[in-house]
Amino acid sequence: MAVSRHATITGVGSSLPPRLVPNTWFEAKIDTTDEWIRSRTGIEARHFADDGVVTSDLAVDAARIALRTAGVPAEQLDMIVCASVTGDTPFPATAVWVQEKLELSCPAFDVNAACAGFSYGLAAATAFVEAGMADTILLIGAEVFSRILDFTDRQTCVLFGDGAGATVIQANDRPGIEGTVLGADGTAAEILLVPAGGSREPASAQTVAASRHDIWMPNGREVFKRAVTEMAAACREVLEKNGHTPEDVDLLIPHQANARIMVAVAERLGIPLERAVVDVAEVGNTSAASIPIALDRAYRAGRMKEGDLVLFTSFGAGLTWGATAMRWTMPGVAA
Ligand code: UT7
Repeated sequence: MAVSRHATITGVGSSLPPRLVPNTWFEAKIDTTDEWIRSRTGIEARHFADDGVVTSDLAVDAARIALRTAGVPAEQLDMIVCASVTGDTPFPATAVWVQEKLELSCPAFDVNAACAGFSYGLAAATAFVEAGMADTILLIGAEVFSRILDFTDRQTCVLFGDGAGATVIQANDRPGIEGTVLGADGTAAEILLVPAGGSREPASAQTVAASRHDIWMPNGREVFKRAVTEMAAACREVLEKNGHTPEDVDLLIPHQANARIMVAVAERLGIPLERAVVDVAEVGNTSAASIPIALDRAYRAGRMKEGDLVLFTSFGAGLTWGATAMRWTMPGVAA
């Protein structure tokens, strides 16, 4: 569908809590090694939030930087969208806590698509702008995953980190965000989930004792395979729909779950690794926050220039996935 009103990213920002936890920290707690974690995932350390720091705190820090980079006062926001599965509270939405901290009164809601949350949020924000329902949207991915980790489960606890990334999405006269494709497969929902805390298994002393409020991933290898297949396919689809081939891509920014997954996706697409952002070493998997954090860090490292074709792709629980093609419209790194 041809649209006359376009959306683009005009501001980026990110926030990682200061406490950096190296792989060796886990060696004393569980049967694992720094070498295993590095070689299987590319992760060397991750940031964990201190007690008392909540998801909206990191989200607001990232948001303030994104707004400053865009040169947009917070009062100009028409909407706040937050992608998260580790929000401050089951409800209201973390976006509402962000709205309260920014002292605003605009609509605010969360997107729950786990590690694919940024893709789903980006599609929603783009559609709101293209439909004329909003001119300026704050889209955040924010997680405090350390609060839902079972530190006796070596298959999951070494993988995740805390952090937030934010983007300002604004109406534009030429296409920035060209398009997003999304996918989901609920038949595989049981391979990656938090089992309890909802209507299926309400919180009880038993659910807490059995760690059923923490992340469960009983078949990491299957998640790995599906991640590579679906992200590569989504990238091809969004590129083709917008008249591009993988050779046209200047920068691939995949969900930062595992360096081996990202390398495999880039290989499948034939995109050389120099044109991909693999930034998992000191961040870990920050779920819905991973793409906007990687985007902000790549931007500040000077990796994009105006007009570059940037490709985002994500994959997570649900299963859910997505890919977005965009022409980078932001000028160089702000002071
Ligand atoms: O962001 C949302 C999506 N999530 C993901 O994308 C995660 C996708 N999955 C993965 O990244 C990988 O599957 C993992 C990193 C989770 C695991 O790597 P793997 O190469 O697939 O290992 P595996 O699960 O096949 O396990 C190999 C061995 C097993 O031991 P045995 O059965 O061969 O004796 C595991 O028990 O490695 C063992 N293992 C560990 N060993 C040391 C699993 N976790 C650990 C650990 N330390 N932390």
